[in-house]
Amino acid sequence: METMTNSLVVEKAKNSKIHDVDFNNLSFGSIYSDHMLVCDYANGQWQAPKIVPYQPITLEPSAKIFHYGQSIFEGMKAYKDESGNAWLFRPIENFTRFNKSAKRLAIPELPEAYFMEGLTTLLQVENDWIPQTPGSSLYIRPFILASGTGFHASPADEYKFIIACAPSGAYFSGKVKVLIEENYSRAANGGVGYAKAGGNYAGQFYPTQLAVEKGYQQVIWTDDNNHEYIEEAGAMNIFVRINDTLITGPTSDRILDGITRKSILDIAKDEGIATEVRKISVKEVVEAAMNGSLKEMFGAGTAAVVSPIAAFGYKDTDYELPELENSYASLLKKRITDIQYNRAEDKFGWRYKV
Ligand code: PLP
Ligand code: COI
Repeated sequence: METMTNSLVVEKAKNSKIHDVDFNNLSFGSIYSDHMLVCDYANGQWQAPKIVPYQPITLEPSAKIFHYGQSIFEGMKAYKDESGNAWLFRPIENFTRFNKSAKRLAIPELPEAYFMEGLTTLLQVENDWIPQTPGSSLYIRPFILASGTGFHASPADEYKFIIACAPSGAYFSGKVKVLIEENYSRAANGGVGYAKAGGNYAGQFYPTQLAVEKGYQQVIWTDDNNHEYIEEAGAMNIFVRINDTLITGPTSDRILDGITRKSILDIAKDEGIATEVRKISVKEVVEAAMNGSLKEMFGAGTAAVVSPIAAFGYKDTDYELPELENSYASLLKKRITDIQYNRAEDKFGWRYKV
């Protein structure tokens, strides 16, 4: 069942939409490429994947995804270098996390070949959709949804695994201002915070809307116990620089084990930057902002890459971060994107040729 080579059916789209796309003005994740991968789970196993034209899917109203939110996803990017070669960044990490999420949501795990061969074949078909314009990439969204039916609150017996792609530019436009959350929680001990479950994001929308109304782009989630420690943001892990030490919180049941996060930690160590992985209290961050030792805060994630935080709000006060000439954020962003776009040596072995 693991071997899939040559068994992948490719049904080509009759017409391409690519000529309607302005590759110099790409937003994030809002236009989709010509093809997608679809693979059904039925009769107790994953069936042969197919590549088909990007199209709507049909589900019964009783499909469990609609009632119980049984769904997971991943976020990846394909990067094109100056010679036109396409690359992925640490894709096996995404595959491993996908199955971790699947297990937690009682979704049947996927064989590695279905994910990796399916993905690479899809990217070969969609090669022209991988942008070569600066700062752009092909955002890849693998996901699984419960298509099996029934109002009984139990796992579905049928699923769809789909990979869709969207040529994309930056996730954030402009400076990022965040609100440190005091009331709502994103995740709890023993919960699903570490999984990329669709419902984790739906649960963030309302508190984030409240923050957006106050002029912030994202919420920084705090621990669900006392809201004392900063955890992560809606779509990225968080780094804090106090004096010259770069600090990020430990991963846990409640925090997504970000691939960008761990890559940034390795690059920072390679640069000789002092790093700490430990709990960061809101009190420490506020005090550091007040005494001037808080030099930087930034978010890290596949979509967000490295996004400097210009200011944070806490208890009705805004704290501005200084604008640094030689920030860790810009150094680390350059180092990671140079690896992703094949502009520099990949001493860690993270690049993966499509
Ligand atoms: N935290 C959350 C909640 C996310 O959705 C993401 C995005 O995937 C991240 C962190 C960053 O993870 P990664 O670097 O693997 O993309
Ligand atoms: C990613 O960074 O790829 C993510 O999955 C975040 C997403 C919520 C946009």
